[in-house]
Amino acid sequence: MATAGPLTPAWGVLEALAATRKNFDLGAAFAADEGRETRYTRKTAGLVLDVSRQCIDDAVHHALLQLPDAVGMREAIEAMWRGDPINSTERRPAWHILLRRPAVAAARAPKEFTAVLAERERMLAFAEEVHDRGQFDTVINIGIGGSDLGPAMAVEALCSLGRARPAVHFVSNVDGCALHDLLQTANPQRTLFIVCSKTFTTQETLANANTAREWIRVRLGVTAIPDHFAAISVNAAAMDDFGIDPARRFAMWDWVGGRYSVWSAVGLALAIAIGRTAFDDFLTGAYTLDEHFRAAPWDENLPVMLALVGIWNINFLKIPTLAVLPYSDRLARFPAFLQQLEMESNGKSVTHDGTPVHWETAPVIWGEPGNNAQHSFFQLLHQGSLRAALDVILLKRSPIANDHAQRLATANGLAQIETFALGQRTDDPHRVHPGARPQSVIVLEQLTPATLGALIALYEHKVYAQSVIWGINAFDQFGVELGKKICHRTLAALDSAESGGSGDLRSVRGLIEKVKST
Ligand code: F6P
Repeated sequence: MATAGPLTPAWGVLEALAATRKNFDLGAAFAADEGRETRYTRKTAGLVLDVSRQCIDDAVHHALLQLPDAVGMREAIEAMWRGDPINSTERRPAWHILLRRPAVAAARAPKEFTAVLAERERMLAFAEEVHDRGQFDTVINIGIGGSDLGPAMAVEALCSLGRARPAVHFVSNVDGCALHDLLQTANPQRTLFIVCSKTFTTQETLANANTAREWIRVRLGVTAIPDHFAAISVNAAAMDDFGIDPARRFAMWDWVGGRYSVWSAVGLALAIAIGRTAFDDFLTGAYTLDEHFRAAPWDENLPVMLALVGIWNINFLKIPTLAVLPYSDRLARFPAFLQQLEMESNGKSVTHDGTPVHWETAPVIWGEPGNNAQHSFFQLLHQGSLRAALDVILLKRSPIANDHAQRLATANGLAQIETFALGQRTDDPHRVHPGARPQSVIVLEQLTPATLGALIALYEHKVYAQSVIWGINAFDQFGVELGKKICHRTLAALDSAESGGSGDLRSVRGLIEKVKST
């Protein structure tokens, strides 16, 4: 394994620079340098990344650019491409790039690519059949985490080119409310459920899937079940037990984490919503970004730049949160998608060999569509005592061909960007805006399947690049397991008729009695 960034001399140089840049004046930086915005802007795959409103200058920029080589980034990228076991704790590849590789790039592809292409073809053929046959007017994807957030976010983002029928819905929460509400008006004859679960053991998904199966059984009879379910999983035995028709089950691979899986059959609901051609474009957009990440020099490399300014903010300016602010309702679920992508990947405190880190890792990611956020939490961003870093996403064109409305949204975004950057000096302390809120601005030429694919891949590779610099494994998620195990015991305690049935659940014993309904 390569050396973690904080253990390299390049880190010390950055620490020295940070010590003299505590009160970085972005206004002065712009005033002194006409070319600042151009120098810190890069473009690829229909995306523009402008980091000129980060609190960096050329010395910091230059020092940041030494980090990738210091940690062996080039080799780390090649390791991902080769399918090395970069998920070191689970000893397997993290090979999501293989899922979006186009058929025309089959030459010199690893042997696993044959199965990937075959499964992609089966999935897309089924998606087209669901659409063309017109049997279903409602499709309900049942899944959670990576088996929900990617396709749910993308279906919403691309709904302008979505086909009117069937309507595609997503349910995830174990409390059953979302599914209950959908089933009030759904017609069982015309409803298809997609059970999406890499493991097919996830409690939330199985609970909702069992409810759905019972709903079909009661209304249409047990023999109708295979016709109304499709599934995506690595767990063929569990799909058998559930009664999924082999023709309607689609494979996933151990070497893809849930949060990186929208490119696989996990994207079935998306493929039904947008169609084969658009789904292919989605993959191609991501593939273009993949090739860029692998080949572009660090200074031209969008994921690496985004990673480096993040490192500067988190580790050197000690800013622990990143707010993601898309100026489009279509990207309303993008912050939630990024929450899992970044925090489940890099929310780690030990290096690959288990040594505790003594540096910060993933920030807290949060956010909302920018306009709505202006009227709720922007006050804190402008004048609060805690500083947040910001990723602002703007669209050049309206996804609904309403250029006037998009101009309004963009004008709001630009006004906030200006205010975050330059602030306001005045004698009235209540009206002072300190400014110098570090921002990356991403402009999408247009919100299309291709640019959305590229945008997701941009963040996926940013996350990997940061994990390489921090020396951590971005591809396991042991932190989510313990609570799942304890849930079996809390459920047993809630089900138990006796009070005090909570055994050794010392911290929640009292709470169990408070919430118990019997
Ligand atoms: O609990 C977290 C998690 O394991 C995620 O990593 C994953 O995306 C999600 O649960 C769903 O898992 P599955 O697809 O196996 O149901």
